[in-house]
Amino acid sequence: MNNPYLPLLMRIEKVTIENDARDLKTFDLAFVNEADQKVFQFVPGQFAFLSIAGVGEAPFGIASAPHERFLKFTVKKVGVFTTALHELEAGAVIGIRGPWGNSYPFDLMQGKDVVIVSGGFSFTTLRATIAHLLEPENRKGLGKITAIYGARFPGELLYKEEVRNWENNPELQLVLCVDRLNGADWPKREGLVPNVLKEVAPKSENAIALVCGPPMMIKFTHPVLKELGFKPEQVFLSLENRMKCGIGKCGHCNIGPKYVCKDGPVFSYAQILNLPPEY
Ligand SMILES: Cc1cc2nc3c(=O)[nH]c(=O)nc-3n(C[C@H](O)[C@H](O)[C@H](O)COP(=O)(O)OP(=O)(O)OC[C@H]3O[C@@H](n4cnc5c(N)ncnc54)[C@H](O)[C@@H]3O)c2cc1C
Ligand code: FES
Repeated sequence: MNNPYLPLLMRIEKVTIENDARDLKTFDLAFVNEADQKVFQFVPGQFAFLSIAGVGEAPFGIASAPHERFLKFTVKKVGVFTTALHELEAGAVIGIRGPWGNSYPFDLMQGKDVVIVSGGFSFTTLRATIAHLLEPENRKGLGKITAIYGARFPGELLYKEEVRNWENNPELQLVLCVDRLNGADWPKREGLVPNVLKEVAPKSENAIALVCGPPMMIKFTHPVLKELGFKPEQVFLSLENRMKCGIGKCGHCNIGPKYVCKDGPVFSYAQILNLPPEY
């Protein structure tokens, strides 16, 4: 039996500084042992624990799609582990265990329009989702794909080059917005994600909404989706509770009877409404 606590080894191939504040970095990783790539089969929405010997480990959403060459993680420097990771450069070897958790509901999206609503650096697993959905094999079964991606100001937007390419991709309607221009000369929209959603969302009857962002954005996005006619079972969110094991053993992540690591991290809003009220 494979030991789920035993990390596989990955080499950092590339480090990209994503934002002006330089506290968000994307790590492109390759398996040290190529055979491990076959073992590590994942679907966008899942997460994994990255580890550094002598420091510890922490969970991160997988920011790349399965067809991409490297596994990507975009990490904000907030504390002990993430600071140690930010200090590493290309060539360093780290550990990974996973993939854990469920994914976004790709089966349910078949034949439907998809609207992706994201703010801040939570865009990571939705970046993976967009890249996955745009693969011709996956794209053909879907209706219109609309993505609204917001940040506090232009210098905080992730994946700038890729996002520029997506803006010119006819298979996707991507709307970028920022809360404040902060003096930047930026030709896109100034506006909050929920307000932009109101203007560009597809008709709700045959659509699925995927939402991931800071709590304040989520709080103001729900009423808009409701007003647009989205039912709780058409809306999916990814949660980021504190985790230790990632496999439903330690009880660190549970909300009532649900383990976010094992039953989630993606839940429909209908499921979330049935969770204890403090959530
Ligand atoms: C499923 C999942 C996916 C995640 N995906 C990403 C991702 O793609 N990119 C990313 O940067 N981060 C992500 N996170 C959060 C990431 O795991 C934490 O930022 C990380 O564990 C912090 O470790 P640290 O040792 O640097 O911080 P610590 O030294 O442990 O703590 C530093 C500060 O961060 C706070 N903190 C720690 N963990 C969390 C958490 N889970 N939620 C809120 N605050 C926290 C602590 O309270 C403290 O204030 C994800 C978390 C989960 C559960
Ligand atoms: S992190 Fe241990 S049960 Fe979820």
